[in-house]
Amino acid sequence: MNETELYRIDRTVKQWLKTSRDFILAKMGENLKISQKTSRKDLVTNVDKENEKLIISKIRTFAPNSQILGEEGFGDQIRQTKGWVWVVDPIDGTMNFVKQRDHFAIMIALYVDGKGVLGYIYDVVNDQLFSGGPDLGVFQNEHLLPAPENVGLRNGLISLSGPMVIHDRFNFQKVAETSSGLRIYGSAGVEMAHLLKGEIVAYVSYLKPWDFGAGKILAESLGLAVSTVDGKPLDMLSSDFVMVATVQAQQDILPIIGSNV
Ligand code: IPD
Ligand code: CA
Ligand code: CA
Ligand code: CA
Repeated sequence: MNETELYRIDRTVKQWLKTSRDFILAKMGENLKISQKTSRKDLVTNVDKENEKLIISKIRTFAPNSQILGEEGFGDQIRQTKGWVWVVDPIDGTMNFVKQRDHFAIMIALYVDGKGVLGYIYDVVNDQLFSGGPDLGVFQNEHLLPAPENVGLRNGLISLSGPMVIHDRFNFQKVAETSSGLRIYGSAGVEMAHLLKGEIVAYVSYLKPWDFGAGKILAESLGLAVSTVDGKPLDMLSSDFVMVATVQAQQDILPIIGSNV
């Protein structure tokens, strides 16, 4: 893909994100229709669904030959990653959206023939957009982000999903104890934004493709390591325990979890 095409897509996706932000902020003042997906800790609202439909309709008009992987099921059933594949999480951090009306993100990613091209994490309420890819660099709004310093586990904060800590998965309580401190933000997008800014050195959670699609592109573009929890490459179409970290923090964490995976 040439640079002109890349910038044209980037401008277009940013317009969709602004439209979706306005939509979500308007809907936030109304009563939400909240339902459970798999449990009382796994919620979905009318706004998640409507925003996914909104984004997917924009993609279908802009790039009709694409495949779309969307969390709420309004996209396609995808079995292979040939051609253009868009990955959409209409609200990442639905629990935060419901309980806090803050600390959630819209996430969109574009992969071409399996290679990450553009990623977007939009912290809606705080109007902070993390965007870019391997050929554009990574931006926080208009500001080009430098690669985070390669800080190790002992000198950095780590963020985990709640269940990783509650169930002490793979010895992660020990990993957290070794770090400078543990944070739990409750939105994969928000956690990865902290990594991009160099504010934490690792994030680990069980994630689905729409949870890591955008963050993987942005993190790798800044030289961060993105892998399964035991350091293997991620499959874009599968859910897994995902680790995003500085190269040093990844090297520090792997021996602590050892054979617990
Ligand atoms: C969830 C959030 C959460 C992570 C879960 C995700 P959702 O996404 O990113 O932080 O721990 O695994 O499912 O469902 O709110 O889009
Ligand atoms: Ca969800
Ligand atoms: Ca998500
Ligand atoms: Ca979601």
